[in-house]
Amino acid sequence: MTDARGTATFLLRYCRAGFEAECALEIAAWAAGVPMGEVLGGSGFVVLGLPRAAADSIDALTDWRRAIFARQSLIAFAHLAALARADRLTPIMAALNERGERYSDAWVEAPETDEGKALAPFCKSFGNALIGGLKTARLLDPNAPRRLHAFFPQSDNVYLAAADPRMSAPWPQGIPRLKFPREAPSRSTLKLEEALMTLLDGSERERWLKPGMNAVDLGAAPGGWTWQLVRRSLRVTAVDNGPMDAALMQSGLVAHAREDGFRFRPKKPVDWMVCDMVEQPRRIAELVARWFADGWCRHSIFNLKLPMKKRYAETMLCLDLIRGKLAGAGREVELRARQLYHDREEITVFCRLRK
Ligand SMILES: C[S@@+](CC[C@H](N)C(=O)[O-])C[C@H]1O[C@@H](n2cnc3c(N)ncnc32)[C@H](O)[C@@H]1O
Repeated sequence: MTDARGTATFLLRYCRAGFEAECALEIAAWAAGVPMGEVLGGSGFVVLGLPRAAADSIDALTDWRRAIFARQSLIAFAHLAALARADRLTPIMAALNERGERYSDAWVEAPETDEGKALAPFCKSFGNALIGGLKTARLLDPNAPRRLHAFFPQSDNVYLAAADPRMSAPWPQGIPRLKFPREAPSRSTLKLEEALMTLLDGSERERWLKPGMNAVDLGAAPGGWTWQLVRRSLRVTAVDNGPMDAALMQSGLVAHAREDGFRFRPKKPVDWMVCDMVEQPRRIAELVARWFADGWCRHSIFNLKLPMKKRYAETMLCLDLIRGKLAGAGREVELRARQLYHDREEITVFCRLRK
């Protein structure tokens, strides 16, 4: 199968292992009406054959920022199977030479599963061999517009894809590797850091997260999310009956409110409300809608802990609930949702008031 440009064969998406069905349902919803191929993927990724009719949707399908359940979204132009252990490079270079495209870089990747992790040493050494092969074939050019991805579901087969860096996640495997800051009170801190990094772009972070702004953190203890906001010099009201980290409280930027996050009301509207309370997703969606409908905040990042079953349907239901309630209140919001690398059975959502 090829697209109108004669190149695309498969849509290849990496996801959290166990979320392949949600990843496929999301693609099906976007490409409604387009006859897609079968799901060919396995654990930690989804592959769909792309018929010619899907060509128009390709740009939308590859934009990783628009996907909730995909960590990376690529158009693969070849799948080479039954590769010989002794020499995988020759058939791969033959396919690349035939295509003749130059690449700015080459990433060799595997799924983020136990099987995929066992391939990490191979991916590293094969990455060097592939770069060498591209150089020899004069197919490596730092100014080329696209990057080459060689994705090995197993060691004997590979998908080859070319990615536009503006449309694809800028990290191998689509995973931002963040270092845990030693002073942060909890590992949850990485979730908010990743959310700010992936749900907002650089200019939005500068405009919407300014020193001196104020925020409310619902379900704040021990303070990993609050710590991220304080690090950016925001003033935070941390709402939780549990204890907050003592060192964080000494920053002078945090007020601790020992209250129920569902009952708490800010005295004045705030710039941000963040929420990491472990609760039913619909209750959180209702709460977020209330905050925006009543004008209590302008921006929010919150987690939706997903149920065991019908996770895609529940995601859509919660996002629609927020949009619907706010439309009813005469307000329009923008929602961006994503299952982060640091999320488990949950997704993280950014919401902002448009008007
Ligand atoms: C996952 S932890 C939050 C971790 C925090 N974001 C961090 O980075 O350290 C969930 C927190 O929500 C709090 N929580 C749960 N239900 C709550 C409620 N109704 N009101 C206030 N806090 C609540 C719990 O006490 C717990 O501290």
